[in-house]
Amino acid sequence: RRLDAAGRYVLPGLIDSHVHFRTPGLEYKEDWEHGSAAALAGGVTTVMDMPNTRPPGLDEDAMRAKAELVAGHAGVDHRFHIGADPANTELLATLDPEVATSAKVFMAGHHTAPVVFRDRAQLDAVFADAARGGVRLVLHAEDQHVFDLLDSWRGDPHSYGEYEPHRPRSGAIVAVAHVVELVRRHGTAAHVLHTSSAEEIDLLVAAAREGLPVSFEVTGHHLSFTHADTCRRGPRTRLSPAIRGEADRERLWRAVLSGEAATAGSDHAPHTVEEKNRPPVDAPPGLPGVQELAVSIWTGMRARDVPADEAVRHLARLMGSGPADLFELPGKGRLEPGADADLVVFDPAERWQMSAADVRSKCGWSAYEGWTFTGRVVTTVRAGRVAWDVRTGLHTPADGRWLPTARRLEALR
Ligand code: NCD
Ligand code: ZN
Ligand code: ZN
Repeated sequence: RRLDAAGRYVLPGLIDSHVHFRTPGLEYKEDWEHGSAAALAGGVTTVMDMPNTRPPGLDEDAMRAKAELVAGHAGVDHRFHIGADPANTELLATLDPEVATSAKVFMAGHHTAPVVFRDRAQLDAVFADAARGGVRLVLHAEDQHVFDLLDSWRGDPHSYGEYEPHRPRSGAIVAVAHVVELVRRHGTAAHVLHTSSAEEIDLLVAAAREGLPVSFEVTGHHLSFTHADTCRRGPRTRLSPAIRGEADRERLWRAVLSGEAATAGSDHAPHTVEEKNRPPVDAPPGLPGVQELAVSIWTGMRARDVPADEAVRHLARLMGSGPADLFELPGKGRLEPGADADLVVFDPAERWQMSAADVRSKCGWSAYEGWTFTGRVVTTVRAGRVAWDVRTGLHTPADGRWLPTARRLEALR
């Protein structure tokens, strides 16, 4: 098949280091066939999947079992973040790097968290053990007081406008300050996921300047929407941590354009329409996004007058070299000799409106329905073959690989 890249950009196959593809146990929301299709349509050829499944992925056996379940169903290459278990943080001190080199920590008892670090001693232990094992922590940094406030909320159970302000920014800021303190004590590599506020970023940038091994992610959702969207449109833009106001969003954009943010992730977290239509107190937080991540970031950069030649470098860093370096993904994230044959042909100028018919996620809806994007993924090549073409659709053999680590390849050399 011919690639037509005239007047278009060629990017490395993109990496989304934060997806919830819901296997095992939650396949009614999403599965690897649909998740892969959404990824490829969005230019993503490699994903890193989260452990808040049923059962949760908390040990090496669970990770190996997941790899087996996924084999033959994934159209994208993949690695997994193991879930840090408060009852067994010692595992991280000896974790086999073949299985995982990063662990997700849920710092508070939020709706979709499988396990929760309830006290300071547990958090201290996970940072100490991860440092000993050379494991990078990826953190859902929210403090328990937010969720306690939510539990005690007695307002109109159907009003998002009333409910949302009861998820204060302070919950994320307090938690990030705690992360920085623990990194200073133990030297653990820590990547804060889905940053939502200016203060979180200021704290992390200051810590990185101090020389601490901290980094952070921005999500397409926190870059695209504001609190006003959630009040107006309700559950479809509701996730944890909450989407904040305009000033916070612009600080996130500054982190993108200054190079402060290390990765952009989708936090692709599908839930069914029925689940999302429940009153806010019962509706799970999270929304799909792997398909929309690159184009939403492109749209936002162009709306902020970032020249296309600069924008393409930001995208190639945030969804390419950034996650490839942080998560040790050899052959991924860069177009260079020896790299895997994963690439994206991207039209920088096409404007198109997303409709429900475009949605590839099994949940069948997107918060971006009705949005007009600037920029389009024309073709996605994975493992040397066209896997997505905007004219002919998906061509996806389910031959995605569970990726070996750089450490393993080095040992073999
Ligand atoms: C995620 C989910 O539904 O799995 N939800 C969310 O609001 N972000 C969980 C998570 O990323 O913490
Ligand atoms: Zn999270
Ligand atoms: Zn997530």
